[in-house]
Amino acid sequence: PVDIGILAMDMYFPKNYVNQTDLEIYDKVSKGKYTIGLGQNNMAFSGDREDIVSMAMTSVKMLMEKYKIDYNMIGRLEVGTETIIDKSKSVKSALMQLFQDNGNNTSIEGVDTMNACYGGTNALFNSVQWIESSFWDGRYALVVCGDIAVYSVGPARPTGGAGVVSMLIGPNAPLVMETSLRGTHMENVHDFYKPDLTSEYPYVDGKLSIECYLRALDKCYEQFKKRYEQLNPNRKFSIDHYDYFCFHSPYNRLVQKSYARLKYNEFLNDPDNQRYKDFLPFKNLSTGKDSYINPKLDQTSLKLSQDDFKKKVDPSTLLSKELGNSYCGSVYSGILSLLSNVNNLQDKRILVFSYGSGLASSFFSFRGNSSNNINKQFPSTRNIGEIANIKERLQNRTKINPDEFSRILATREKSHLSIIKGAHTPIDTLDNISNGTFYLEKVDDKLIRHYKLK
Ligand code: ACO
Repeated sequence: PVDIGILAMDMYFPKNYVNQTDLEIYDKVSKGKYTIGLGQNNMAFSGDREDIVSMAMTSVKMLMEKYKIDYNMIGRLEVGTETIIDKSKSVKSALMQLFQDNGNNTSIEGVDTMNACYGGTNALFNSVQWIESSFWDGRYALVVCGDIAVYSVGPARPTGGAGVVSMLIGPNAPLVMETSLRGTHMENVHDFYKPDLTSEYPYVDGKLSIECYLRALDKCYEQFKKRYEQLNPNRKFSIDHYDYFCFHSPYNRLVQKSYARLKYNEFLNDPDNQRYKDFLPFKNLSTGKDSYINPKLDQTSLKLSQDDFKKKVDPSTLLSKELGNSYCGSVYSGILSLLSNVNNLQDKRILVFSYGSGLASSFFSFRGNSSNNINKQFPSTRNIGEIANIKERLQNRTKINPDEFSRILATREKSHLSIIKGAHTPIDTLDNISNGTFYLEKVDDKLIRHYKLK
């Protein structure tokens, strides 16, 4: 198989959102803290009628229907999520219900991957590697990644979000993964973790998580560069070789800083380059600890990168600014945003940074396929954007005021605890669920969750 990559993709996100300006007023923080300081517009959320299984089912059903994909054509299904509702059973197993109901294909490999926001990337890597391997039997892989990101009341709450991305992976794809190139960095840190299984909320050290994220970015850049230069001995690596960038997006300001940080890395590799002369006062900082949370360096790097950011990064930020952090879905919502904003990606190269706290991180890349071998059923990257129709779908959502948002999150908290104790019927009204969406109907006395399609 050649040109393995993304054949089709879409994202499910909840019907309701809260506006970040409204939230600034409600939280009594200074004007602009969430909209400029974090760079966010709106945040998607759901009540206790939706959980990770219902959202993943809706996302898969939507992709299969929109692209008329036969459930029997899937040979691998991988789910990446950190929204844990069962310590044993995979979300993947729950998704098998859709396959049972649509042709009873049970020969499907893959289970869930969990590591903060990185599970989707592991799922994607597994799927691509399966197609490259001797185990591949000609069928497609389906990667499902996303989360419901909720934080306790406090400074992290505006960085929540929700959504689940589904991607069809196979050969002769319009968006090809450059499989020989990858840069990975993993280490043991406690920036964000979820040790309290009675709560949906993480323990998070915000400042440490930012430092870990940026350090991981530096290390992935270094590893990716090394691999690139190993494969292309006569060519020096530069981010200039890439047309677009997608970053895992906890909030947009960190994405701006990440791209700016890559420019700083380019300077450190080539300190005599006149393009980067404004970085000279920071040369001795290198990538040391003091370079991570450093307002002066930020100011210089953000200024130096802002024009390129608009061209190369901004097109991938639409969904994450509107939905917030969908954790495992975030970086893939970036790819979908890019496909929705740029008509023609033929021969364009896209660099992707995936980060999951704790931590696991990778750099990898895609290129728009310009050959005539593209699978006829999935014609071009342009169609993916059109079919997903995210701009219109985002506009058709319902804005909820912050008071109601807080009340709905409180019901989620209460339900989460009740479900552990016994039979439970969700509190939230079905008015908060769109037609065609799966929702949690009830939890029975054996704690089995029952879902219905609205
Ligand atoms: N106008 C403009 N900017 C403002 C304003 C204002 N009125 N008020 C504050 N700001 C700026 C600050 O200067 C700061 O900018 P900087 O990042 O350039 O320094 C930014 O807004 C955030 O303000 P802080 O006071 O630093 O915010 P706070 O400490 O309250 O919380 C944080 C921010 C740490 C991101 C918090 O929301 C959090 O913990 N989120 C969850 C963790 C997270 O998302 N980490 C990212 C990687 S890990 C992951 O993906 C989960």
